[in-house]
Amino acid sequence: MPSATAKTIKAGVIGWPVEHSLSPRLHGFWLDRYGIDGIYLPLPVAPPNIEEAIRALPKLGFVGANVTVPHKEAAYRTVDSLSETARKIGAVNTIVCDEDGELFGDNTDAFGFVENIRATAPAWQGDATPALVLGAGGAARAVIAALIDAGAPEIRLANRTRERADELLAHFGAPLMIVAWDDRNDAMAGAGTLVNTTTLGMTGNPPLDVDLSGLNDDAVVNDIVYAPLETALLKAAASRGLVAVDGLGMLLHQARPGFEAWFGTRPTVDEELRAHVLAGRDGG
Ligand code: ATR
Repeated sequence: MPSATAKTIKAGVIGWPVEHSLSPRLHGFWLDRYGIDGIYLPLPVAPPNIEEAIRALPKLGFVGANVTVPHKEAAYRTVDSLSETARKIGAVNTIVCDEDGELFGDNTDAFGFVENIRATAPAWQGDATPALVLGAGGAARAVIAALIDAGAPEIRLANRTRERADELLAHFGAPLMIVAWDDRNDAMAGAGTLVNTTTLGMTGNPPLDVDLSGLNDDAVVNDIVYAPLETALLKAAASRGLVAVDGLGMLLHQARPGFEAWFGTRPTVDEELRAHVLAGRDGG
């Protein structure tokens, strides 16, 4: 890699911890592929310093940054202006600095979710049937915002902790409706979209215990978990003949708008990128 100069375009990902983030590998691949004089750095920032660090981005000559756990809400509160999507989700994952040093906050997780589904399941019609979302954390917020945008007539939300689902209902309102965690299998009846946004099924976590028999025969099943890539949920979906969409694509697609805003080139997601990023996940 040629060394950076004063002209090198600088961006990065702010998180705590940030060493497991695949974003530097992902953006680094695109920078190489498109021959751009740019750099994308992991930026570990401890919670007490987050506001100051975000404010410092344009002063240090950064064109912007991604923001990851646990800083997305702090970024939301710190930036100067917000996209409509960031406002809807209540969190910022992409910051773009303008020439005057003003910070624009966007959230591209909803975009990443939908683009990933459309890339893998082109026949998916988000507005045709109810959707069932499992989990009520940050990822669920982005997925729900995307499903509402796609015109979902009903979004059933099941979460172990009822209060967190209630908070999302208060935030989004209809077409969201809450289903008890223990009734999640019954809530599959007639649904054409199922999304797991919980951490269940992730390597080292307990399995996700669900029965997919109630889902529509043409349902699309998406797992946000991408370690392992083919989760037990996706295996069960495939063996029922449903369309299984893995979680890595959401990560790859959510990165596109930031890369384009910072480095001026619209990047593409393909097999070569997937393989490169996956090798990083596996420690390669
Ligand atoms: P993120 O912001 O990345 O979505 P999170 O806020 O930690 O992550 O949310 C994790 C989700 O997985 C939550 O919906 C959580 O349920 P709770 O709200 O009840 O904590 C869910 N989850 C984690 N472990 C779980 C378990 N053992 N059983 C059921 N749900 C679980």
